[in-house]
Amino acid sequence: ETKIAIINAENKDMLIREAADVIKKGGIVAFPTETVYGLGADALNAEAVEKIFIAKGRPQDNPLIIHIADISELKKYTKNVPEIAERIMDKFWPGPLTIILEKNDCIPNVTSANLNTVGVRMPSNEIARKLIRKSGTPIAAPSANISGRPSPTDVERCVEDLNGKVDYILGEKKCDVGVESTIIDCSVYPPCILRPGGVTLEDLREIDEKIYIDPVILDKPKEDMKPKAPGMKYRHYAPKAKVIIIRGNLQKTIEKINDLMVHYIIEGKNVGVMATDETKSEYNSENVISVGKRSNLGTVAQNLFETLRAFDDKGVDIILCESFEESGVGVAVMNRLKKSAGFNIIDI
Ligand code: TXA
Ligand code: MG
Repeated sequence: ETKIAIINAENKDMLIREAADVIKKGGIVAFPTETVYGLGADALNAEAVEKIFIAKGRPQDNPLIIHIADISELKKYTKNVPEIAERIMDKFWPGPLTIILEKNDCIPNVTSANLNTVGVRMPSNEIARKLIRKSGTPIAAPSANISGRPSPTDVERCVEDLNGKVDYILGEKKCDVGVESTIIDCSVYPPCILRPGGVTLEDLREIDEKIYIDPVILDKPKEDMKPKAPGMKYRHYAPKAKVIIIRGNLQKTIEKINDLMVHYIIEGKNVGVMATDETKSEYNSENVISVGKRSNLGTVAQNLFETLRAFDDKGVDIILCESFEESGVGVAVMNRLKKSAGFNIIDI
């Protein structure tokens, strides 16, 4: 039985206390963060953490990240923290950034999937931080979706995926960032970005110009190449429909999408188009959804996963997607989009 509780101004502290009690007793709780909703358990309780893997259908070799509420907590769970990690934390915490560090023995092997490192994040979402504090323990939390599906950015999508599978769903507003945190590995030098997110490469290079993105995640993975973050190797963020990205000059993209739309409709397919505020009027279809503004890619990041899920609600067979420039948060947007498309890209 899952308790679903939606926060408002009056019940906030009561519900956070209730959810924290569930965590303390070894239960699992879906909760809001500024990136996506997380599915949390006491990171130090191996049995509780195992429940997360079962509820999500997550492969056991995919480590979880832990969430803390105060930087001072970090020393308890990690060791040999390099000075550059401290500078990164000072600048970007609390916020959408996970730092990989050498782990202490108190982190159980199920949490870190037997690695000698652990990812740590201090979220900026106030509910998340209060929940961690009240629980009195770091919270291990992957995104609150069934493994492989787009991450949930609002409580309705958590309920859709996890109702009946978890103890408690704590709902708040829609997530601000919309894509998962940037992951940076600081257990090596130079630090390496394992997953792009809301904190961009450009932001991080202000700390050290040598910081770089794991090249393996930028393109279709070759058989002999493994991304450094285990989770990045799985098919991910995938709606039920087949996703095709059209990449190149915007005007030509629009023409190509209109051609493909006709082509697939003749084949009897139900076709969706992922457009933007600037381009949506260029398509003559009832299944056009704008994912956000080209002039503000943050809005695209915020709506991306919800838009993919909305196409599934419409029951489309194929989603034709415009592409975005790979700089700033556009790197994270295109990373998620390419994965959801299984790297199915038409270059024009
Ligand atoms: O924004 C976020 O990070 C969200 C919210 C809930 O905080 N959480 C999240 O967790 O996205 P998850 O489990 O969906 O993604 C964590 C990623 C996985 O790809 C995992 O393989 C990688 O982090 N990871 C975790 N620990 C790692 C480690 N020690 N070394 C390398 N990669 C690691
Ligand atoms: Mg995830």
